[in-house]
Amino acid sequence: MKFFLDTADIAEIRDLAATGLVDGVTTNPSLVAKSGRNFIEVVREICGVVSGPVSAETTATDHPTMLAEGRKLAKIAKNIAVKVPLTPDGLKTCKMLHAEGAMVNVTLCFSAAQAILAAKAGATFVSPFVGRLDDIGESGMALIRDIVEIYRQYQGFKTEVLVASIRHPMHVVEAAKLGAQIGTMPPTVMRQLFLHPLTDKGLAAFLADWKKTGQSILGDAKAAAAE
Ligand code: G3P
Repeated sequence: MKFFLDTADIAEIRDLAATGLVDGVTTNPSLVAKSGRNFIEVVREICGVVSGPVSAETTATDHPTMLAEGRKLAKIAKNIAVKVPLTPDGLKTCKMLHAEGAMVNVTLCFSAAQAILAAKAGATFVSPFVGRLDDIGESGMALIRDIVEIYRQYQGFKTEVLVASIRHPMHVVEAAKLGAQIGTMPPTVMRQLFLHPLTDKGLAAFLADWKKTGQSILGDAKAAAAE
C-alpha cells in the first residue's frame, strides 16, 4: 500500500519524507488556505521534496476553465496529478487531461457509481472520502470495498483507489485489508501508525538490560566518530 500525505505543510512533508515511507502528497484548496502559502509556489516546493505524485486541485467548476487550470498545474512538475471534482465538467476535463498524458486525481467521490465514471474517464486515481461518509452515518469502508471489487472485474480500469479523508490508523488498516492501492492521510495519522505502547515498554526494558552489560556495539568507533 502506498502512503500519501494529505497536507500542504512543507515542514511536515520534509520531516515525514525523511522516513522514506511517503509515496506522494495530496493537497486541496482548504489545505492550501491553511498553509497560508501561494498555491503554485507551495505545490512546486512539494514536488521538489517528494518524487511521487503530488495532487494539485483545480478550482474552476466549468470545463473550459478547469481544463486551462489543469494544463497550467500539470506544467509545474512531472509528478503533478491534477485534481478535478467528480462532476460532469470534472470528468470531461479528466478525460482530456488523461489523453494529453497528465495524471488525474478525481476527488470528492462518495459512491461506487461515481467511481465507475471516474475509471471510465481515465482517472489515474479516484479519491473516495471515507471520513466524511462516516461523519454522516454511512460506511466509508463499505464504499472502498465496493470500488475495489468493481475495479477488479475490469482489466481496462487502470484507476487506483486513493482512500481519502482518513481520520485514524484503523481507516488505513481497513483500507489495506481491502486492497486499496493508496491511503492519503494527515501527518498526525501517519505518525500514529508508528506507535504502540508495548513497543515503547519493550524498548525501555531492552535498553535497561543492555546498560547493565556495560557493552557498546560500536565500541571505540563510536567514541572516535564523536570526536
Ligand atoms: O484531501 C481530501 C480529503 O482527504 C479531505 O479530508 O478530513 O477534510 O474530510 P477531510
